[in-house]
Amino acid sequence: MVTKEVLAEALGKTLSETDFSSGLGPLQRGKVRDSYVAKGKRYIVTTDRISAFDRVLGTLPLKGQVLNRVAAFWFDKTSSLVSNHVLEVPDPQVMTVEDCEPLPVEMVVRAYLTGSTSTSIWTHYEKGVRMFCGNVLPDHMRKHQKLASPILTPSTKAEQGEHDLSVSREEILAMGRMSAADFDTIAQMSFALFEAGQKHCAQNGLILVDTKYEFGRTKDGRIVVIDEVHTPDSSRFWMEGSYEAALSGGKDPQGLDKEYVRTWLKSERGFSGDGPIPFIPDEIKIEAAARYIRACEQVTGEPFTPDLTEPIGRIRRNLGLG
Ligand SMILES: Nc1ncnc2c1ncn2[C@@H]1O[C@H](COP(=O)(O)OP(=O)(O)OP(=O)(O)O)[C@@H](O)[C@H]1O
Ligand SMILES: [Mg+2]
Repeated sequence: MVTKEVLAEALGKTLSETDFSSGLGPLQRGKVRDSYVAKGKRYIVTTDRISAFDRVLGTLPLKGQVLNRVAAFWFDKTSSLVSNHVLEVPDPQVMTVEDCEPLPVEMVVRAYLTGSTSTSIWTHYEKGVRMFCGNVLPDHMRKHQKLASPILTPSTKAEQGEHDLSVSREEILAMGRMSAADFDTIAQMSFALFEAGQKHCAQNGLILVDTKYEFGRTKDGRIVVIDEVHTPDSSRFWMEGSYEAALSGGKDPQGLDKEYVRTWLKSERGFSGDGPIPFIPDEIKIEAAARYIRACEQVTGEPFTPDLTEPIGRIRRNLGLG
C-alpha cells in the first residue's frame, strides 16, 4: 500500500519538466506530457504535472507513473478490439509509441449526466439545454443519473491556451477537417473501448462515468487510439458502492479522478481557470494522488508499487541516453 508517508516523500521528488532534447531531438510540451520524436518513434514522458480547466497547476506525487501504468493496462487489455499506438513501456513514466498524425477531434463518451464546470453536461442540462452534440436528453433527469445509453459529445482540439469546443458529427464534417468515414470509424472505436471499459470497471467495483479518446493516423495509414485510455486524467471514475446513496441523497459519489481537484479549486479558491493559479496545499495534493492510486489499483487489480528513484536519471538510463 502506498501510505501517506510515501506520498509525502514523493511530493518532494515530482517530475515537473524534462529536457532530453540532446539525446532525443526537439521537445514538444503538452500540458501533462513531454514528447520527443526520434529514431522513427515517439517517446512520450508522462510528467507529474496536473492540469485543470486547461491550465497547468503544479505537480502531484506519483501521478506520471500512475497514468502511464493505467494507460498501459488499458492499451494492452483492449488491443484486440481497437489498435493502439504503443510499442514499448521502457520506464514507469515513458511510453514509446508510433508517431501519428492526430485526428483533429477529441471523442468524449459519457454514460452519466454529471460534471461541475461551466462546460459540463450537467451544468447545461440544469439550465434547460436538452440537445448535446446531436443527442437529445429527456426532461426530469437528476444530477449523476445514468443515461439510457452512452452518448458521444466530440470536441474540437483547441490550440494552446484556447478551450475545446463541443461539436456534433455534422459540425465536424462541415468544418471539412475529417471525412465521414474516418469520423464513423473512430466513433465506433470509441464506443467499443467505452463498453469494454465499463464492463471491466463494473467487475472491479468502479463506474466508468465518462472519458475522452484521441485517435491518430499512422505513417502507413491505419487509424489507432493514441495518447491515453481510461486514466483518472481523461476519465471520471466513481466508487460503485457510493453511487446509489449519493444519487438518492443528492450528493456526489466518491470520485477517483481529477474532479476532486477541480471541485477543491472551485469551492475553496473560487478558481475555474481564469486569473492567477492558486497555491494547492500538500494535503490536497496527497489526497488527490491517493485517489489516482486507488483508481489505478481498482482498475489493474494489483497493488501499485511506485518507483521512488530520481526520475530524470532513471529515464535516461532506461532509454539508453547515458
Ligand atoms: N502517438 C501519437 N502521435 C502523435 N501525437 C500524439 C500521440 N499520442 C499522443 N499525442 C499527442 O501528444 C500530446 C500529449 O500531451 P498532453 O497529454 O500533455 O496534451 P495536451 O493536449 O496539452 O493536454 P490535454 O490532454 O489536457 O488536452 C497531445 O497533443 C496528443 O495529441
Ligand atoms: Mg492529453
